[in-house]
Amino acid sequence: MSLPTLPVVDLDLFLSQTTASEAVVQECKKAADALITYGALILHDSRVSEDDNTAFLDLLEDYFNQPLPDLQKDECPELGYQVGVTLENTEKPSCAVHAPCLAVIAGLEPSERPLDITAHQPDPKCRFFWKMGAQPPYKTLFPSLNAQNVVPQSEDIKKRWEPIMEKWGKSMKDAVENLAEMAAIGLGLSRDTFTEAGRYGPHLLAPTASDLRKYYEKDTILAGFHTDLNFLTIHGRSRYPGLHIWARNTGKRIPVKFPATGRYLLVQAGKQLEHITGGLVKAGYHEVVVNENTVEVCTIFRRDTEIANGSLGVQTIQRRKRENPDRPLIRISSTFFWHLSSDYDLVPIPSLADRAKAIRANEFDLGKMVEVEEPLYEPMKVGQQVQNELRHIALMA
Ligand SMILES: [Fe+2]
Repeated sequence: MSLPTLPVVDLDLFLSQTTASEAVVQECKKAADALITYGALILHDSRVSEDDNTAFLDLLEDYFNQPLPDLQKDECPELGYQVGVTLENTEKPSCAVHAPCLAVIAGLEPSERPLDITAHQPDPKCRFFWKMGAQPPYKTLFPSLNAQNVVPQSEDIKKRWEPIMEKWGKSMKDAVENLAEMAAIGLGLSRDTFTEAGRYGPHLLAPTASDLRKYYEKDTILAGFHTDLNFLTIHGRSRYPGLHIWARNTGKRIPVKFPATGRYLLVQAGKQLEHITGGLVKAGYHEVVVNENTVEVCTIFRRDTEIANGSLGVQTIQRRKRENPDRPLIRISSTFFWHLSSDYDLVPIPSLADRAKAIRANEFDLGKMVEVEEPLYEPMKVGQQVQNELRHIALMA
């Protein structure tokens, strides 16, 4: 993980003292400032268990290693793929045909730009959406965004599925909700401003899967340059590198590297947070690609196969083989999307929108403004915003 470049926010500190404590106030301000400056931060949370993440990654590798007809049983296109599986080559990154997004890329130094998405077809990644939200106690205007979960049908997967998904999902949900409280305090709002607005959000544990047996060439785009449509996205450690994020107000591409140990998570701002803050916090851009480090890991796996055939004998690789026998070569992302409630009225909070305007004016005066078009944050229901975004990325007609 890029510890030197992204601020590290300590959730342990926040949870160990009252919100009146000066140390907590400062940590909350750090969280808010990190989201404003970088659109992302590193979160330290000692409650997170690496064993739970490992069980989750193993389960999802096994799930996506199933034959295609088994996976297809779990597809729900009629629900905009908002539960169950989305198979490869379905979701299109919207940036390639979205002028403001292309302008963001054009504003980056050439060395900091994402892989070229202009000729990019739908992403070759698969995904599973597992709903982690509470059903709203009222009749929602957006029933398709609040549908029941799909449990995979294969017996071996089915019996492991729910406990592992719920356990890891809860760790991620608890962490991101506490961070949302910290961000609210740091932005000068009451602690529960965001968590109340998202109390019945259709939160999703949303692992993606990229088959590195098929997609292993360096510079293959697994998920093209985009921002997330939800409020905050939180990631646990993946077994393979390849996630790049862009810190919004610095224009630098950051390859995300998790340290070998330690209870760290990566949090990125999504479009609902951008909307409710009137653009004070910008949704963070990111991409998932096969980079030189991914290739290195893949190469190690391929050599493992050769070791099994007796043709290679490198000790470190043999050790890896012993520790990871016969695992499918599939890159799983440990991702959770935290949403505001679909029926919540998404309107910029005036005090934050005023700050956003002041910052834009200041940047314009300093000649630092790169975005050509000031986005409009029109009032709408969150569910409407989500449906607009889903149409953009070809998941909803
Ligand atoms: Fe994303």
